[in-house]
Amino acid sequence: MRPKIIHTADKSPTLYLEEIDEHYHSINGALQESMHVFINAGLNQISKNNINILEIGLGTGLNVILTYNEIKNSNKNVFYKGIEKYPLKNEIIEQLQKETIFNSDTFLKIHNSNWEEEINISGNFILQKQKIDLINFQATKEYDLIYFDAFAPNKQPKLWTTKVFLKLYEATKKDGILVTYSAKGIVKEALRNAGFEVKRLKGPAGKRHMVRAVKQV
Ligand SMILES: C[S@@+](CC[C@H](N)C(=O)[O-])C[C@H]1O[C@@H](n2cnc3c(N)ncnc32)[C@H](O)[C@@H]1O
Repeated sequence: MRPKIIHTADKSPTLYLEEIDEHYHSINGALQESMHVFINAGLNQISKNNINILEIGLGTGLNVILTYNEIKNSNKNVFYKGIEKYPLKNEIIEQLQKETIFNSDTFLKIHNSNWEEEINISGNFILQKQKIDLINFQATKEYDLIYFDAFAPNKQPKLWTTKVFLKLYEATKKDGILVTYSAKGIVKEALRNAGFEVKRLKGPAGKRHMVRAVKQV
């Protein structure tokens, strides 16, 4: 797949995949969407100091960067596992790096690090990237927070199923949460069937709703 860089409504970049007519983020603002869904409705709802995060769909690494920026000057420690089936090619990484939001040592560390290895982004932030299809992923840790950021349900219906969410539910700690940008009926139903308590929240600009799912038992 050959993604192209485009700019979204808040001027932040995202990737567009012509083959499946899909963007990596909302065209109404990639940065505002990621901050709203993953950081504000996800990370900032966790009051613990040691947080295990699992991201489904590492992509550009934007959520890693935003999470790191949020906690770097705090007393929190993050272990961040990002899984990805289609790693970006070097030429795209080089082009992305020219964008202000990606022009940092953190961005290079994320993309230059070896798959499967635990790398120290800083003293309180460990990243482990895993090159794997979510369908085959087996968690070896339990997570406080899951960023579910796969392509949209109509593009990847096999990923937004009870079976997949059940696997993620089992990998979630008690009181842990899963956040995602899609609030489609089939998504909420599959999350509920997997055992999560599902809440519909106000969505980011351009979207009415998003979902936060909590493992209560
Ligand atoms: C909506 S994009 C989000 C990307 C990323 N979170 C970001 O901020 O750039 C979806 C991501 O999921 C990845 N993906 C698609 N199918 C996958 C699968 N079956 N298993 C793991 N990752 C997958 C895509 O390659 C893409 O990077």
